[in-house]
Amino acid sequence: MTTGSSRRSTPRPGDRSGPVPGHIAVILDGNRRWARAEGRDCAWGYLRGGDRARQFLGWCDAAGIDVVTLYAVSLDNLRREDDSVAASLRAVAVTLRQLARETRWRIRLIGRIDLLDDRIVRQLRDTVDPTHAVSGPTVNIALAYSGREEILQSLRVLLSTPEGITQAQAGLTQDMLARHLYTGGLPDPDLIIRPSGEQRLSDFMTWQSIYSELYFCETGWPGFDEYHFERALAHFASRSRRYGQ
Ligand code: IPE
Ligand code: MG
Repeated sequence: MTTGSSRRSTPRPGDRSGPVPGHIAVILDGNRRWARAEGRDCAWGYLRGGDRARQFLGWCDAAGIDVVTLYAVSLDNLRREDDSVAASLRAVAVTLRQLARETRWRIRLIGRIDLLDDRIVRQLRDTVDPTHAVSGPTVNIALAYSGREEILQSLRVLLSTPEGITQAQAGLTQDMLARHLYTGGLPDPDLIIRPSGEQRLSDFMTWQSIYSELYFCETGWPGFDEYHFERALAHFASRSRRYGQ
């Protein structure tokens, strides 16, 4: 674990050699603070964050990363009393339309999508469903997402059929549970990035993050540029992953 501001032996762009993450996940944090610092409203911050996410996906594709998960709205965020969630979802809708037009990404929505406004959900699904035929990298967009809720949801699915109940009674295994997570069939994230200076996971990839390398930096998400990206990848490449061994 490191912070982007740590000076001691901080990897620099160009230092990258060695493994590249197969699955990279990002907590898209600090959009409102970024906007406030620029004297703008949060809607502007989320749109800039969306532009950054599209650029980020381009860098990931160029680096050969197969799966990207972007945490845009948490389940906790839905309790916010201001209009920031609506503004954030509008920016997600704009960004996904732009991404879908590129026909370069397989886009999936993950999280408690059922809790979002029906009209927005219909609009988002109409945008992303046609991308399921694309053979490019997978992009998971986490909306109303909670890692704990994801684990519960997996158990609910597993226990919703007589076969599942019998299987679980005979011996519930990690594989059985992992299969019904939103990320079922995908590798766990190798690297999780959180910008904006916070160093916590906030209910993100709760099951999947046990061996994830973590990278934190101070900039708000809209300021996360290619330099930060290279530093995050260089940090990842310099880690010795032992998986508890
Ligand atoms: C984003 O926080 C929430 C998630 C990434 C789940 P915001 O970007 O809304 O705004 P800040 O952190 O208040 O600046
Ligand atoms: Mg935040």
